[in-house]
Amino acid sequence: MKQTILVLEQHILEQQRAHPCASGEFSWLLSAITLATRVISAHVRRAGLVDILGETGATNVQGEMVQKLDVIANDTIATCLGYRDNVGIMVSEEDDEPRILKEPDDRAKYIVLFDPLDGSSNIDVNVSIGTIFSILQRRDDAGAGKVMDHILQPGYRQIAAGYVIYSSSTVMAYTTGYGVHMFTLDPSIGAFRLVREHVTMPTSGKTYSVNEAYSRQFPKGIQDYLDWVKTDKAGGYGLRYIGSLVADFHRTLLHGGVFLYPPTLKAPKGKLRLLYEANPLAFIAEQAGGSATDGKQRILDKIPTSLHERTSLIIGSKDEVERVLSFWRA
Ligand code: AHG
Ligand code: MN
Ligand code: MN
Repeated sequence: MKQTILVLEQHILEQQRAHPCASGEFSWLLSAITLATRVISAHVRRAGLVDILGETGATNVQGEMVQKLDVIANDTIATCLGYRDNVGIMVSEEDDEPRILKEPDDRAKYIVLFDPLDGSSNIDVNVSIGTIFSILQRRDDAGAGKVMDHILQPGYRQIAAGYVIYSSSTVMAYTTGYGVHMFTLDPSIGAFRLVREHVTMPTSGKTYSVNEAYSRQFPKGIQDYLDWVKTDKAGGYGLRYIGSLVADFHRTLLHGGVFLYPPTLKAPKGKLRLLYEANPLAFIAEQAGGSATDGKQRILDKIPTSLHERTSLIIGSKDEVERVLSFWRA
């Protein structure tokens, strides 16, 4: 039997044909991201063999220790995107300031925001890590020279978002607002091959994912939910927490359940970053039939006020997110 091989670039082109609003330029931009993630994946696969494990000794703008792979991933994405003349601004979790590649009067209309390496604390111990990206378009109504007006847009304005997980295999999931599609990197040909189109998240699921060590710092309603899942009435929940958002989200997307990173005493606004973590994953979750909230409002409706803004995040199966909220609001 002849097997069809559909690779990511081809898939993007076909999406473009089905949705003529997607331009060829956009495909060109996405291909820079896939190229970068293939390079990062190759580094990750050789991590123990070359000197790329461990900390650099520097601290980033988030106050976190920078790992060597954080730097490699950040540089790789910046280099690959830098060659695409339609990318105007790049914003990375690892950079203090946005990188302005082209001035607004150029045709460089896209803004790419990314977490180059998610799950840094898991790098050295061979646990899944990832890359997350979000794509916006420059606003027509922003004032000249007002870079932040272009960047600080709510998540519902994203035109694409995705992530790559470097795990037992390297998988990419992306959306442009027409469903979520998933690809596996085939190392023998160096291409992401389509494995699932229109991925849907189960509407419910009895897996909760949270760093429960912080539970005493969580709001009372979240503590009540965490007590409830352990009761007989709840009917047998399981806990899974990897500590790499991409990996915890990927499992939740495929198997259902809920991921929570509520506010804590240490991080009263939550720990995760709105622009490079919560927004892109919220877009994917919604496109797959799930939902994402900060406890008060839909993540995608939040108006960002600063580049490295943090947020609390409850994301996953629609019914389970709703259940968490019912405890939190009570
Ligand atoms: P990053 O490595 O990009 O800084 O992100 C780490 C994040 C996220 O991946 C994960 O969900 C969370 O940190 C884990 O935090 P805790 O160790 O506090 O549970
Ligand atoms: Mn991260
Ligand atoms: Mn990171």
